[in-house]
Amino acid sequence: MKLLKFLRPYWFWALLTPLSMIGEVIADLAQPKLMSRLVNEGVLAADQQLILSIGLRMLLIVFLGGLAGTSCSVFASLASQNFACDLRKEVFRSAMSLSFQQTDQFTTGSLITRLTNDITQMQHFVEQCLRMFVRSGMMFLGGIVMMLSLHSKFGLMLLGALPIQILLMGLILKKANPLYAKVQKRLDKLNNVMQENVNGARMVKAFVQEERETERFNQANEQLTETNLKVAYIVARLSPLLSIIMNLSVVALIYLGGLEVMAGKMQIGTIMAAITYNTQVLHSVMMVSMMFQSIARGRASAKRLTEVLNTTPAIEGGTLRADSLGEITFENVSFHYPGFEGREVLKNISLTIKKGENLAILGATGAGKSSFIHLITRFYDATEGRLLINGRPVAEYDLHSLRERVAVVLQKSELFSGSVADNIRWGNPDATDEQIIRAAKIAQAHEFISKMPEGYETMIAEKGASLSGGQKQRLSIARALVRKPELLILDDSTSALDLATEGKLRAAIQKEMEGTTLITIAQRIASVKECDRIAVLEDGGLAAIGDHETLLRESAVYRDIDQSQTKEGGIQNG
Ligand SMILES: Nc1ncnc2c1ncn2[C@@H]1O[C@H](COP(=O)(O)OP(=O)(O)O)[C@@H](O)[C@H]1O
Ligand SMILES: [Mg+2]
Repeated sequence: MKLLKFLRPYWFWALLTPLSMIGEVIADLAQPKLMSRLVNEGVLAADQQLILSIGLRMLLIVFLGGLAGTSCSVFASLASQNFACDLRKEVFRSAMSLSFQQTDQFTTGSLITRLTNDITQMQHFVEQCLRMFVRSGMMFLGGIVMMLSLHSKFGLMLLGALPIQILLMGLILKKANPLYAKVQKRLDKLNNVMQENVNGARMVKAFVQEERETERFNQANEQLTETNLKVAYIVARLSPLLSIIMNLSVVALIYLGGLEVMAGKMQIGTIMAAITYNTQVLHSVMMVSMMFQSIARGRASAKRLTEVLNTTPAIEGGTLRADSLGEITFENVSFHYPGFEGREVLKNISLTIKKGENLAILGATGAGKSSFIHLITRFYDATEGRLLINGRPVAEYDLHSLRERVAVVLQKSELFSGSVADNIRWGNPDATDEQIIRAAKIAQAHEFISKMPEGYETMIAEKGASLSGGQKQRLSIARALVRKPELLILDDSTSALDLATEGKLRAAIQKEMEGTTLITIAQRIASVKECDRIAVLEDGGLAAIGDHETLLRESAVYRDIDQSQTKEGGIQNG
């Protein structure tokens, strides 16, 4: 349980918890003995004075015990909640540092379960241990001592009942424990289905897949319930069985004690106290069983959390600070996605992108265009060949300083809930209002933003649901521009714009972002005609490169694409 190191900063609370628990247990143990005196010496002897004095003492003890109990709960919460908070922070950080591929491996659903449910389990575990460990141990030993101090014969009772109880508990817990890990796994699955559907709610509706998806959800839900019930069935047997043992021993106590009382060797108060102690001892054993359950759950969760914490990011930065982004050189670069050996997505690409150049990458869907640029930002690493920036391997650079200089507008634009201005400012938190408006103007977004009811302060629904595809794309571009990147990558991010707007956008970027290296990914030749160079990707290979005129003259592939696109009527927009 390496995770317990997160409890260290809160050792003070963690220590106070069992200490105040000791107070509570002492109070609980003192009470029955006083009660027996109250009955034996007070009630039976009709001694009013004694009844009053013992009664007051009992009241005081109740009060003190209650105080200790309350502080114990407070301390336990302080320790366990803070522990959980730190642990969550660390697991979250770890989860965020994972590379794309590692996140896919864990699945987002599972990461969410780990961050929520598993951490809660760990918190329960810490709380239970801090409180129950001392309580059950002290109750157990204290109860036995107190009982023997009443009468040695009572010890026999425990000798009979305890082993049976412990045996039963052991058997049942042994069956239940392996199921806890299974419960967490099923919960992962449920969260996965749920997450996919909540995220893709629109698509599910559009494809009228509600029924199928609901079915999938129900299935995961039922499986989870089934496993939970299995655990419940097993554990459910425990408490009635223990109750029976407990009650049987009470009956035996009363019988044995009764005989003694009739023989005049014992008083009624003593039997009353013995019954309470007996219950306390057997109860403490039950508490241990509960503790074992939280240990089992805690262990299952701890393992899952440690997995996340121990995963080192597959892509780690070097120490070199990227002070500027100059030339980018691909040297015989080949690439396949991790786990897809033999399926090369990029094949032997050699290409140098000069600083300030305006490069287009053209190719059909699946040609490898997005993969190509993912290598530059090091979302993935090339599997063969070298990628150099300013003449140094990209892996030598500090990731943060490298990515800071690049702005990528991903193919799928993601917006956040918040105002339009917030969304643009997300690209650069220090941007002034003027800079935001300027970026919006370049991105051809100023006009439609101004027409919105509250202009730049208009709230956008989650994920930009209240905007059209083209509007989302332009906001995403503005967000990238406001970063003042040295390298701007537009991954198919003007596909939803009409050609006229797209043209204006290109002209504005070229004029306003002088010196910025620009990589534009597109499928339409019309979008990239004016770029300095156009690289044509075909099946992951570099089929041709050059400016529009040259390519038209020299590349058959390019001519084919050009022809097929002009034949379709030239203007196609999404
Ligand atoms: N995360 C991934 N894991 C495995 N294969 C992928 C992944 N992303 C893309 N691919 C595969 O790589 C190929 C190129 O994809 P991509 O670079 O996105 O093409 P483009 O952007 O040109 O449409 C496709 O065949 C696709 O199936
Ligand atoms: Mg793509």
